[in-house]
Amino acid sequence: MSDNSAHSNYTRATFDEVMVPNYNPATIIPERGDGSRVWDQEGNDYVDFAGGIAVTALGHNHPALVKALKDQADKIWHLSNVFTNKPALELADKLTKATFADKVFFANSGGEANEAAFKLVRKYANDNFGPEKNEIISFKQSFHGRTLFTVCVGGQPKYTEGFEPLPGGISHAEYNNLQSLEAIISDKTCAVVMEPVQGEGGIVPATEEFVKGVRALCDKHDALLVFDEVQTGVGRTGHLYAYMGMGVTPDILTTAKAMGGGFPIGAMLTTSKIAASFMPGTHGSTYGGNPLGCAVSNAVFDTINTPEMLQSVLDKSAKIVARLEEIGKKYDVFASVRGRGLLLGAVLNEKWQGKARQFIEAGWQHGVMVLVAGMNVVRLAPALNITDEEIEDGLNRFEKAVASIA
Ligand SMILES: Cc1ncc(COP(=O)(O)O)c(C=O)c1O
Repeated sequence: MSDNSAHSNYTRATFDEVMVPNYNPATIIPERGDGSRVWDQEGNDYVDFAGGIAVTALGHNHPALVKALKDQADKIWHLSNVFTNKPALELADKLTKATFADKVFFANSGGEANEAAFKLVRKYANDNFGPEKNEIISFKQSFHGRTLFTVCVGGQPKYTEGFEPLPGGISHAEYNNLQSLEAIISDKTCAVVMEPVQGEGGIVPATEEFVKGVRALCDKHDALLVFDEVQTGVGRTGHLYAYMGMGVTPDILTTAKAMGGGFPIGAMLTTSKIAASFMPGTHGSTYGGNPLGCAVSNAVFDTINTPEMLQSVLDKSAKIVARLEEIGKKYDVFASVRGRGLLLGAVLNEKWQGKARQFIEAGWQHGVMVLVAGMNVVRLAPALNITDEEIEDGLNRFEKAVASIA
């Protein structure tokens, strides 16, 4: 569906004229979505396997989410944290009942939820063990956001280069390599931070042995275990949070992305004991816990946190993995397909190293949106409620895209 209003005169070229060049968006400009289909300004349609980078977990224009937003818009939009509000209290109540956590801090994004978590682990250690216990350990290739603190905890030096001087007291071990963590963890470590599945780092799931070993090392050294579930959370792996399927419980969990189904919201979840270090005045956010975001997030939570929805994530995942493996074999492009639930990565084989971007561009030309995770992995993070028909259509389009370049 195209329209003739003034905004359709804007093109990708306008971006270069008026926007800061920190992104390099596609030439197509999406305008409307419904379920897992998106239409661009020219009226072309796409099957959406990208989900706004694991955000639109219930697709586009979901009636329950639209209703929640509209109903709240008619009541009150914003209050600030001088007041609390019913949607925020309701959401925190649901999150604490459904998880290990007793307390919730609301933010507006994954980066902000992590910023809160990284400040809290320092504050908690300072309060309980003294200022010497301040070191944070994370993992190489991890990604935790774009604030200065979160890029430093992230394990990808390309995101910190040029931004020096950087905050200190942060080091990085090898992911899925317990010896590497054991070599650097000490009683000075205040926290170990990990993604249960490294997302931006290439869709690399943590092994069960590794996760359990990390938990044990944290316990040994009185370090908090922080799970960054910004990408894996809210049903994406077939569990409400990925930790629930891993036999390990973190001390702090961060969540964002799918939490608002496309409305910006994030949260940090923790226990009462740890939360106690964030007493009034220690941390805050103007918009965190905003009633609009929380109203939408309540609807997202209610829709996703059902046994049927979580099971369907695993069923759909199996279907997509089988077909991706078939495509990979037929065109000799993928070495493997990995991930959890509907966070999947098709790993390019030797021949295609460094060329993941070609697959997303071919996808756009053939009416399907996919993502990359680094230069060697084609990532799919579709809506959890994507239909079988949308999956079939999207994979047929994706196969045509692969055939066009392979
Ligand atoms: C694991 C993880 N943590 C944090 C972030 C940052 O989230 P945001 O972009 O909402 O700040 C991301 C974003 O990709 C992520 O994947």
